Amino acid sequence: MAKERGRPRTSTVLWDGVQRLLAGAGAGGAAGPRSVVDLGGGTGGLAVRVAALGHDVVVVDPSPDALAALERRTAEAGLSARVRSVQGDATELAGLLPPGSADVLLCHGVLEVVEDPSAALRAAHDVLRPGGRLSLLVTQWPATVLARVLAGQLPQALHALSDPDHRWSGSDPLRRRFDRAGAVELAEAAGFTVTGVEGTRTFSDLVPAACAESEAEAALLRELEARAARSPELLALAGHLHLHATR
Ligand SMILES: C[S@@+](CC[C@H](N)C(=O)[O-])C[C@H]1O[C@@H](n2cnc3c(N)ncnc32)[C@H](O)[C@@H]1O
Repeated sequence: MAKERGRPRTSTVLWDGVQRLLAGAGAGGAAGPRSVVDLGGGTGGLAVRVAALGHDVVVVDPSPDALAALERRTAEAGLSARVRSVQGDATELAGLLPPGSADVLLCHGVLEVVEDPSAALRAAHDVLRPGGRLSLLVTQWPATVLARVLAGQLPQALHALSDPDHRWSGSDPLRRRFDRAGAVELAEAAGFTVTGVEGTRTFSDLVPAACAESEAEAALLRELEARAARSPELLALAGHLHLHATR
């Protein structure tokens, strides 16, 4: 697992969830490669892992720099035949990809930065085939408040708590953060049926880095994360929410 100063960067809960969603996304339950769109897929960390499972991935992202990095990454992994990059905005999706063409749409960390999250989700809905699956990952605001308090940044914590978009200040790089009710409502308003919500990174960003250095400690942290993901009581504390939804 990738690590940054002792903390795992990749959520096992998220990756397990994505794999379950991919497995369940075949038309009529069929196995085989899925047609996957990674909306706002950036430099392709997730797209390459999905392609390595044998699926075909189209990464749509407005950033030419991110797409250049993606192309280098896929070439290094020998997966260029399975990953295609398309430069564009979420709201242009209908003009970039055929409607109803995708089995799975990944939208991770994107609704926080786009101008109109509802329009982005409606576009995501239309590019999926009926019965296709949405994997939606959003940043949760209560975790941000908690993290700022623990870091002693009380003005930012108060701002994140009281601001309607839950930004920690005017210079916050995110335009907004979500909670469970808001994220589910947004997905349902775009026409999705939400089939599950899992919390990811409940503890990974809070644990002191020095306490997750050894493999044994990392394994304990993974176990804590896996149990927290299934705990309704801890869901509100998760750094991110992973919504599983069906068109
Ligand atoms: C926080 S990054 C997430 C990257 C990747 N999905 C991940 O989970 O690591 C946000 C991504 O959204 C892309 N993005 C920003 N505005 C967008 C838009 N209007 N439509 C689609 N993607 C957008 C950015 O270029 C960036 O790659």
